[in-house]
Amino acid sequence: MENMIQVIDIEKYYGYGGNLTKAIDRVSFNVRQGEFVSIMGKSGSGKTSLLNIIATIDVATAGHVIFEEKDITKFSDDEKADFRKNNIGFIFQDYNLIDTLTVKENICIPLIMNRIDRKIINKKADSVLQQLDIYDIKDKYPYQISGGQQQRCACARALINDSKYLFADEPTGALDAQSSVNLMEVFKIINDKFKTTILMVSHDAISASFSDRVLFLENGKIVYELLRGTKDNEQMLKEILIIQKV
Ligand SMILES: Nc1ncnc2c1ncn2[C@@H]1O[C@H](COP(=O)(O)OP(=O)(O)OP(=O)(O)O)[C@@H](O)[C@H]1O
Ligand SMILES: [Mg+2]
Repeated sequence: MENMIQVIDIEKYYGYGGNLTKAIDRVSFNVRQGEFVSIMGKSGSGKTSLLNIIATIDVATAGHVIFEEKDITKFSDDEKADFRKNNIGFIFQDYNLIDTLTVKENICIPLIMNRIDRKIINKKADSVLQQLDIYDIKDKYPYQISGGQQQRCACARALINDSKYLFADEPTGALDAQSSVNLMEVFKIINDKFKTTILMVSHDAISASFSDRVLFLENGKIVYELLRGTKDNEQMLKEILIIQKV
């Protein structure tokens, strides 16, 4: 498998002068086509900062992110927006749902932006709503539904586009154990069936045990990398829990 994403020497600083925070400290790694990679680490270790930079939502202080041989760190804002619209589904840590739109309308945003035919939008939306078990609440507004339902709504919006890349920041953070496993099974299906490349931030070991590879971040650096190899989820989970204790 070829490398679809190359992350090269990324650094991220917030603030300036005496108020400088180093969030990412020279991080490099590759993601292959169709790979499902998780990023784990304690609160404040730099997970969201790193994911947002790779997903073109934020800019790095230094370093490069190469997608399919294109250096997106050199893209203009318009080029980045275009690239995102055509290639990337994103699930934010705080969902980012629009309060004045219903669940179904929120989910349809990516397709509307891509000017897809109304009938097709409707069909796709109903199918994703059912897949994530939120069909019954499709006409409600985000403030009328639970945190877990909001999270599944954000997932549905990221999945509706059949994007080549899926970036997810704590997608199971507000879900109970069973709903988390259900959602990770949906991730596995889109990863296997559509060969979607997935990069997921999670501090939930069970969720991360579904991935092909886990990167462990500490103070903005990758300190360990766990490969699945021939391990099943149970074995992955055991090893993740051991590494977390070290
Ligand atoms: N906008 C910002 N301005 C200043 N500092 C920031 C900003 N965003 C993040 N930081 C700092 O950068 C570091 C990394 O933050 P980041 O949000 O990437 O961590 P995280 O691993 O995603 O944490 P969590 O698990 O709590 O979501 C932290 O020290 C944080 O305080
Ligand atoms: Mg975060």
